[in-house]
Parts: sequence; C-alpha cells; structure tokens
Amino acid sequence: MRPAPGASPLAGRRVLLIVGGGIAAVKAPDLIRRLRERGASVRCVLTRAGHEFTTPLALSSLSEDRVFTDLFDLTDESEMGHIQLSRQADIVLVAPATASLMGRMASGQAPDLAATLLLATDKPVMIAPAMNVRMWLHPATQRNLATLRGDGVLVVGPNEGDMACGEFGPGRMAEPLEIIAALEAHFGPRPLQGLRALVTSGPTHEPIDPVRYIANRSSGKQGHAIAAALAQAGAEVVLVSGPTHQPDPAGVAVVRVETARQMLAACEAALPADIAICAAAVADWRVAKEAGEKLKKERESGPPSMTFAENPDILATLSSLKQGRPGLVIGFAAETEKVVEHAIAKRKRKGCDWIVANDVSPATGTFGGDNNSVTLISDSAPESWPPLSKTEVAERLVQRIAANIAGPAVRKGETA
Ligand code: C5P
Repeated sequence: MRPAPGASPLAGRRVLLIVGGGIAAVKAPDLIRRLRERGASVRCVLTRAGHEFTTPLALSSLSEDRVFTDLFDLTDESEMGHIQLSRQADIVLVAPATASLMGRMASGQAPDLAATLLLATDKPVMIAPAMNVRMWLHPATQRNLATLRGDGVLVVGPNEGDMACGEFGPGRMAEPLEIIAALEAHFGPRPLQGLRALVTSGPTHEPIDPVRYIANRSSGKQGHAIAAALAQAGAEVVLVSGPTHQPDPAGVAVVRVETARQMLAACEAALPADIAICAAAVADWRVAKEAGEKLKKERESGPPSMTFAENPDILATLSSLKQGRPGLVIGFAAETEKVVEHAIAKRKRKGCDWIVANDVSPATGTFGGDNNSVTLISDSAPESWPPLSKTEVAERLVQRIAANIAGPAVRKGETA
C-alpha cells in the first residue's frame, strides 16, 4: 500500500521482528515504539537466548500483540503455522542478529522458530547484526555475511564503538533510528525504478586449447556488488558475468559467459539499457588460433609459442554506439601506478562518461579482496573516496547514479 503524502513509508507496513539473544535486545522495545509511531504494525518473535535480555511482556506491551517464542507450542502451530507467520509480514527484521543466528540463516538450518521463519519466508529480510568485535571480524561471520548479502538479505550496521563487553570496534547494533532509516529507504521510492542497467563482472577466460585458458585475478566481487545495489535501487539489471565464484545477486538476471567475444555478444543482446557499467576485467588479447586438441607436452618443436589477437573492447563499443548508446556508460580503470592520470586518459580513449579508477597493485589486496579505494573520474574534478568495502563502493556509486539521473543527464527514453 502507498502511504499518505508526508507519512513515513513505514505507515501501514507489517514488520515481523525477530529479537535475538544479545545485549542489544534491550533496544527492541524502543525500536518497536518508533516503528509504531510511524504507523507500522509489529509482531515479535523472541528467541530463547533473547529471553535473557528482554521479556515477552515488554515486547507484547509495546507491540500490542502476542509474542511468539522459539519454544514450539502446539497452539501456535494449530492456530497459525510458521509458514503463515513468516509471510504475513511485509518484511522480516532481525534485531539484534547474533553471530549464531546469522550462521543458521546462512547455512539454511532451522532448529528453532526464528530460523524456521527465516527459511520459510518469501518476504524481504533485513538484519541488524550485533556481537562482540572479534566475533564480527571472525572469517566465519564475514563468510556468513557475504552469503546472506548474496541471498539478498539487507544489512544495517553494525556500528563501531565501545561495546558492552569492554572492547572497542565494529559490532554494536545500529541504533533504532538507523534501522528505521534503512527500512524507510527500503519501502520508500526507489530511485532507479523503471530504468534498465547492464553490468559486466568477473574475468574472461580465453582458451588456448580445450583444457587450458588465459585468465586474470578478477573475483567479480565489485561487479556483482554493483549489480546487487542497482537492483536494490529498483533498476532492472542484467549482469553479464565471466567465470566467478560469486553467488548470483538477488533480483538480477545473470548471463554467464567465458570469453570476451561472448561477453560482448551478451551485452549487445541485453540492450537497450539506460545505464551500462563495465566492471569486468576483460582479457585484452586472446590466442589467435585456439588448438582443436590438447597441446601435447612432448613436441619435437619444443614449447609452443602463441600468437595473440586483440579482443573487442566492450566498454569502448558500448560508449561509441551511434544508436541506443546507454545514457550513462561507466568503466573501471584498474591501475598499478599513476592511477588518476591513466584513468583520465582512459575515459577519453574509451569515450565513456565516468571511470571508477582503482589501484590494484598487489599491496592493496584489491583483486579478490573485500575492499576498494577508488577515485571517480567524470567531467568534474576527480573525486577520491575513502577506503570502503566493495559493497559500500557499489552503494555509493549507485547513489551517484541516482543523483545524476535525477538531474538532466539520463532518463529512460531520452537516451541517444
Ligand atoms: O583498457 P582497460 O582494460 O584498462 O580498461 C578497463 C575498462 O574497460 C573496464 O571498465 C573494463 O570492463 C573495460 N574493458 C572492456 N573490454 C575490454 C577491455 C576492457 O569492456 N576488452
């Protein structure tokens, strides 16, 4: 339903709030109060561990509804099955989301009511993680977080600060008002609604013979994160991906390719698009003549030599389209030195509108890593962003795109 003008986008929304077991559960009553102030209805599920920090009575008094616990109770099951409970809401909010609950979600385990609801729901899920800093930074939690993001789970926080356990760092649950802001952004108008976006991601594999190929170190993390962020902003997204281990982003149409030529063909097939973002690390060259059979080691002529042919440049091709050029074409420039200088030259050479320049020298750990330090090159002055996670770079880039689209530059139907 649409809220009345001026009302919070949460007005009339039904929130199923799962309260996990952490000290941040004490913020749940405040969160419920603020949700209800904005016209949302809240139904609570309290995990067994959550009982240690808040009470069903506190939650039911504020939500003015009964509270479901993780103690399976036949009455609940006969009156309202877990499937129904998980789907009656417009969103499932997990606050606080503990490391353990995130682990259950990421691995699809359903040993209790909260995890069962999360597995059964067909509604968007948002989590507000809260845990000790070491637990948050542990590779297992970060792995689970990446899996959950890949599954389309929305994440708010955690914040950095002093923790109840006496340590300092990331792990504090986002404040109730920050959670509200994230929910309002989710239910509010989506800035890229009605626009079509094309994203390339990952490396390409260029065959030498039927079993060998030339590749590069691109993981696809940045391109996939951009596709996910565009979809969350309401765009219809086609992601043309080279071989990667990244999960398909939720709500995105994924076309898998291997070679640069296949990638170009898939991009052309995905047109028209309003926005094109070429984040793939496309091989510049391919082996001119792929061997039909596996090259044998035992060759009289010794090790083979290879002749290369130039691959098509997808970014330059899309940028120079006479007809149907996407209104905003964005490329990446992975450089190991003179990053900004090379990127400015590349923007000109390729004919794209923006270049996201990043330093991929080995010391930065950008290739395959989770973080990225980028400079945005447009027709204004270069803009250096602080070091951010690849997800944050994607979100910020999408915000910039949305701001640009709101201006005169690109609008569906107005593309050249
Ligand atoms: O020329 P270079 O590879 O450094 O340019 C990087 C940018 O060009 C990236 O946006 C990349 O996706 C794109 N590119 C492309 N097709 C190629 C080579 C690069 O789309 N064959």
